[in-house]
Amino acid sequence: MTDYKHENRAIRSFVRRSGRLTPGQKSAFSNYWDQYGIDYRKQKIEISELKAGCSEFKLEIGIGNGDALIDMAEKDPASFYIGIEVHQPGIGRCLNEISSRSLPNIRLISHDAVEVMQHMLTDRSLHRIFLFFPDPWHKKRHKKRRIVNQQFRDLAYRLLKSGGCIHLATDWQDYAEYMSSEFLADQRYINCGNSEGFSARPEYRPETHFERRGLKLGHGVWDLLFEKG
Ligand SMILES: C[S@@+](CC[C@H](N)C(=O)[O-])C[C@H]1O[C@@H](n2cnc3c(N)ncnc32)[C@H](O)[C@@H]1O
Repeated sequence: MTDYKHENRAIRSFVRRSGRLTPGQKSAFSNYWDQYGIDYRKQKIEISELKAGCSEFKLEIGIGNGDALIDMAEKDPASFYIGIEVHQPGIGRCLNEISSRSLPNIRLISHDAVEVMQHMLTDRSLHRIFLFFPDPWHKKRHKKRRIVNQQFRDLAYRLLKSGGCIHLATDWQDYAEYMSSEFLADQRYINCGNSEGFSARPEYRPETHFERRGLKLGHGVWDLLFEKG
């Protein structure tokens, strides 16, 4: 697992949250990481070896506690899911849940998703990329931290198969409008939604923890789907 505390580099889309691991989460790392985790390294992973028998390969970025990832993987055993998250307690919780449901089609990576996309995932290997309720960084001075930017669009484009799709969702109107304008302006992507770039929530996307939080605050929810042309 990566220690970002003393590191000094590019602007990242997250800050290290302190959040201690509970004893249960700690033991999840010692008991299940070898089975369900993949250590970060600057080397491409061989996807065909990982996805044993699955026909599609899907990536979720910023899984939080992994609720959506687990739900989707359980209902879609023909696909192999990779979840990326930097928040250790979330990974710990997710490991416990994967193990208790004996899900064979999930692996987790605990590292900055941008670097994983750059260095570990292979070009044209993904059928879907999910980014659900990314940190909104809504203050003006923080907007540069938003994970969705030109670099992210380029990476997603590179990793998606032709006809593959990126699915984004947020409860922040300003972020929704920002993401739709970014993708609508990018000629490489085909908008699967209405003229504003918004789609109805596909059935496979469960309600997430941060979505519920947003709804309690009276926020709306926006889903965006863009296909690699
Ligand atoms: C607002 S939470 C949403 C969590 C979950 N998707 C949900 O809807 O409940 C955003 C999550 O993205 C993670 N995150 C942000 N930037 C990341 C990055 N570059 N790499 C991996 N995880 C990241 C954060 O740690 C956080 O858990």
